[in-house]
Amino acid sequence: MKDRSRGHLTRDGIRIYEAADFAGMHRAGRVAATILDEMIEHVVPGVTTGKLDEIITAKVEAAGARSATIGYKGYRHASCISVNHVVCHGIPGDKVLKDGDILNIDVTVIVDGWFGDTSRMYVAGRPNRRAERLMQVTHDALMLGIETVKPGNTFGDIGAAIQRYVESQRMSVVRDFCGHGLGQVFHAPPNVLHYGRPGTGAVLEEGMFFTIEPMVNLGRPQTKVLADDWTAVTRDKSLSAQYEHSVGVTSRGAEIFTLSPAGKFHPTWG
Ligand code: MF3
Ligand code: CO
Ligand code: CO
Repeated sequence: MKDRSRGHLTRDGIRIYEAADFAGMHRAGRVAATILDEMIEHVVPGVTTGKLDEIITAKVEAAGARSATIGYKGYRHASCISVNHVVCHGIPGDKVLKDGDILNIDVTVIVDGWFGDTSRMYVAGRPNRRAERLMQVTHDALMLGIETVKPGNTFGDIGAAIQRYVESQRMSVVRDFCGHGLGQVFHAPPNVLHYGRPGTGAVLEEGMFFTIEPMVNLGRPQTKVLADDWTAVTRDKSLSAQYEHSVGVTSRGAEIFTLSPAGKFHPTWG
C-alpha cells in the first residue's frame, strides 16, 4: 500500500516533515492555545473541573476541531485538569476549585489532521508564594528547553537544560512522563525527556515536530498513578506544575506552534 504519511523518517524513527507542513501545525496549535486563553476567565473558586472540561468540549466543537483525547486509550474528556499535587492526566469531574488552587489544563485538538497539544498553569483566586515560584520555574524551564532547540543539538541537550535549571532552584523534574513527537499523530518517537546529559540522544533536525512538557515538583520527583489508571500524583503529596508547547525545528531554532494569541501563556498576578 502506498505510504501516504508526510516527509521521511530518520534512523531514530523520527519523522522529518516538509516546510509546507508547518502551516498545518500552526493552525492546530493556534486552536488549542486560543481555547486555553479563553479558559482563564472560567478558572475561579467554586467551579468544578468537570464544568471546565464541558466548556472546553464546546469550544473544540465551535472551532470546527476534534478532541484528540476523547476516545484516546479509553479516555473520555477533552482535557486533562491536574490540580495541586496532581502531576498530569487529572480527570475532570466533581472536584470543586478553592481559593489558591493551582491547576494545569492540557488540551490536544486535531485540525485538518494536524495535532496541537499544549498545557499551561492557572490559579483559582490567588496563589501562595511557593506555588507562584513553582509555576514560574516550570514555565522558565520549558522556555530554556525551547531555546536549546536547533539543528545539531541533541534531545539530551534539551533535557539537560531543563534539569539543570530546575535543580538549581531546588525543585525536581518528573522522570515518569515525557514529551513526544507529534504531527499527523498524537504520540510518535522520540520520547522527549526533561532531564539528561548534554550531547546524548538523537540529533535535532529541521522538520522535526515534538512537544516539550516538563513537570516540576516542589518536593521529590517520584509519582504514582491512582486506581483510575490515569491520575498521576506526587508520591510525597508536594505541589506539581507543568507547561507544554508543541514546536517545530527550523534551520535557525524552534517555531512554537502553540503560542498564546492573547500573550497569556503564563499567568500574571495583577
Ligand atoms: N495531552 C497529553 C500530552 O501532553 C496527553 C493526554 S492523553 C489523555 O501528551 F488521554 F490523558 F488525555
Ligand atoms: Co503532549
Ligand atoms: Co498535552
